[in-house]
Amino acid sequence: MCGIIGYCGVRTAKPILLDGLKRLEYRGYDSAGLVVVDGKKLNLVRAVGKVSDLEKKGIARPQPGHCGIAHTRWATHGRPSEENAHPHCDCGGKIAIAHNGIIENYLDLKEELLARKHEFRSETDSEVIAHLIEEYYDGDLEKAVLKTVQRLEGTFGIAVVHADSEDQVVMVKRGSPIIIGIGEGEYFAASDANALLPYTQKIISLNDDELAVLHPGGYHIKNLNNEFLQKQIEIRQDRDELADKKGFEHFMLKEIFEQPEAIENAFRGRIVEGEGVSKLGGLEPVMERLKSVKKLVIVSCGTSYYAGLCGRYIFESLCDLHVEVEMASEFRYRRLKLDGDTAVLALSQSGETADTIAAIREAKRKGALILGVVNVVGSAIAQITDAGVYNHAGPEFGVASTKIYTSQLVVLTLMALLIGRYRGLSFTEGSAVIQAVKKLPRQVKKILTDIEHIKKVAQEYSRYRDFLFIGRQHNYPTAMEGALKLKEISYIHAEGYPAGEMKHGPISLIDENFPTVAIVSQDSTFDKMISNIQEIKARNGRVLAVAGEGSDRIGDVCDDVIRVPETLPILQPVLNIVPLQLFAYFIARSKGCDIDKPRNLAKSVTVE
Ligand code: M6R
Repeated sequence: MCGIIGYCGVRTAKPILLDGLKRLEYRGYDSAGLVVVDGKKLNLVRAVGKVSDLEKKGIARPQPGHCGIAHTRWATHGRPSEENAHPHCDCGGKIAIAHNGIIENYLDLKEELLARKHEFRSETDSEVIAHLIEEYYDGDLEKAVLKTVQRLEGTFGIAVVHADSEDQVVMVKRGSPIIIGIGEGEYFAASDANALLPYTQKIISLNDDELAVLHPGGYHIKNLNNEFLQKQIEIRQDRDELADKKGFEHFMLKEIFEQPEAIENAFRGRIVEGEGVSKLGGLEPVMERLKSVKKLVIVSCGTSYYAGLCGRYIFESLCDLHVEVEMASEFRYRRLKLDGDTAVLALSQSGETADTIAAIREAKRKGALILGVVNVVGSAIAQITDAGVYNHAGPEFGVASTKIYTSQLVVLTLMALLIGRYRGLSFTEGSAVIQAVKKLPRQVKKILTDIEHIKKVAQEYSRYRDFLFIGRQHNYPTAMEGALKLKEISYIHAEGYPAGEMKHGPISLIDENFPTVAIVSQDSTFDKMISNIQEIKARNGRVLAVAGEGSDRIGDVCDDVIRVPETLPILQPVLNIVPLQLFAYFIARSKGCDIDKPRNLAKSVTVE
């Protein structure tokens, strides 16, 4: 949420800052701004809208200079407007800051600064940072930033420039990510490595409460006690996935089609067929404790939460373990009994989600073992968990999560298999899971070949303004996730419900204008699902079924059917969600929506 980029070096800063912003835009995209230090002056341009709007506005405005910072925003305090866009300046117009995160005590600070005659120009929490630095500045920017940070409560990644320090960018981190990129005679700062891939592979990740200073001759890093730190430089091998969409119209479609590979990457090298078990190096340090935990609590948000709901069925079925699934944003309000016998498992694509981080901190305080399943290597959640597993699904740029969701389900299955084999799961049962997991990439590919049929169905349903998604057992989280995909990218109202709950209320919504998407598997829930579908049909509701290849009867009761291959019930969600991702995609496309950057959303949600 919000992206920051900074540059200091031999090249002209502006093109690098603009390119970096485009690469970070998936983090937030309601306004953007850029400032370059140019001959003891700050040259600032800000615009409402996308980075392309900023670029257009900046064309008429030469901004030479070799040092600058830029920001792409997801509004928290104050609507998207030019005044609220970052960078923000102090009263003297000498200091500019870009901020990602939330300053929780900004009202108190603002009151204090107003009393000292500072003039505010925005509605943001962030602007107080610029004015505080101005208060503390006595010719030494780094010292002023250090003093300022002592006054801030909340989360932040901050980049600062000063007109009088033409060759210096100061950054500081607490809670929101900041990395440094090291080039030849040039140095970069960014919210994530994607922004820097064309420029350098040498990266340093700042930890919380660390400050870095970049200048053309080098960089240094300190803690908040002003002590120098030596930090390791990582050499990142990530491919520059943002460079092109490989012929796909949108990243979301590309990522849907990358699922066979992402699933394969989730299990490659992680199964021991001869023993009917999985091998997860990241869990080895805690394996003894994990074998005997009495309770597992899964915490996550959004799509990752729905993966967690599927995880409950997976763990219950393979591990004989009591499993609870909590929305991370609600976790701290519960009086859950967490102790050394509990493992808390955080699921997060980005590894940056503030709600999930807050839930982890709460669970740590209560002594639970903390595990993570994270896609972004080295992200905040990866760092604060006791142990965990990476998805290795490659970067996901479409704001609507697709390939990470299916990859999360596979990783959860491997975790459950590993623990289950210590808790009574037989070799034969374990082997059956492995064989089913290995088939998934081929089965997903098969669904993807049905794209024209799915597109046609989506076009037929694109005229509706409301949808109900229903499923039972493993298909209930799929109903929730299918509905979330549709609302996120097409802005159509959709509700996901356990099918059995329908008669307790939502059925009153059903008429010929309110279609239902029913996710049906040929399992113990099949007959009950057919009954629920009949109840909808009896009220003139149109029904689209996502159903297993083997379920003949479904064609007789539903208006339309999309077929999917069959697998073990615990893995069926991996297959069932794929046509629903495409269904949402094609409806959004037919409405002309901005699929990769849906309104009001951002890829990493770094505020609570
Ligand atoms: O990065 P995380 O998995 O922690 O993110 C959680 C949610 O914000 C995320 O899944 C969100 O719901 C997506 N936009 C879903 O498509």
